[in-house]
Amino acid sequence: MATSLRVIALDGPSGSGKSTVARAVARQLRWRYLDTGATYRAATLAVLRAGTDLTDATAIAAAVAQASIVVSTDPDRAGTTLDGEDVAAEIRGPEVTQAVSAVSAVPDVRSRMVALQRSLAGQDGAVLEGRDIGTAVFPEAPVKVFLDASPEVRASRRAGDVDTGVAAGGDVAADLARRDRLDSSRAASPLQPAEDAVHLDSSSLDADAVVQRVLELARSAGLTG
Ligand code: DC
Repeated sequence: MATSLRVIALDGPSGSGKSTVARAVARQLRWRYLDTGATYRAATLAVLRAGTDLTDATAIAAAVAQASIVVSTDPDRAGTTLDGEDVAAEIRGPEVTQAVSAVSAVPDVRSRMVALQRSLAGQDGAVLEGRDIGTAVFPEAPVKVFLDASPEVRASRRAGDVDTGVAAGGDVAADLARRDRLDSSRAASPLQPAEDAVHLDSSSLDADAVVQRVLELARSAGLTG
């Protein structure tokens, strides 16, 4: 089926493998790649730098409204700036990881980040990874995948990932469970599969097999030649 919106939505929890898969699919298709979590992390850093009370949704929204956030869409060159400063490393730190669920639960923050994500990705060839791409950012995406893995596999992936933002020696499984709970229970766009998403479980599939499956879905949807 031909479609004018050339977007692949890849949602799932932390450690499901979606970054690896989304980046690889974007490379293969020569499309843009957007890590939407980086936009929420940069927004969270702006809130922390402003010294904002994390229980004050109005103050959080005001701090985010002042922030200028740019995330690279080149699958071969990750990069995030906040007000022109490279913050790629800092947004993976434990302070941001600890606070990001609170900031990303604020509806005004979400509407701003969704608008930013749409403009960064465009509609003509982009793979977006996140929690609400298929439900809120691009509900009309012709390919929607919900990638999951068992809690044990996700925790061990995150533990082996230098970019987790979980403090060394911290309990990775507990941190993941905490974020899953917060991200899935918030009122605004909780982590939940779109009704028409294809579910893939990466617990026993390697990344390459998942990438091939997503590329097949893209072909069947008429997104590739
Ligand atoms: O993918 P990540 O772990 O870097 O995402 C960080 C946080 O951002 C995550 O705990 C929830 C939030 N997030 C979100 O609410 N919606 C998205 N589309 C992406 C991330």
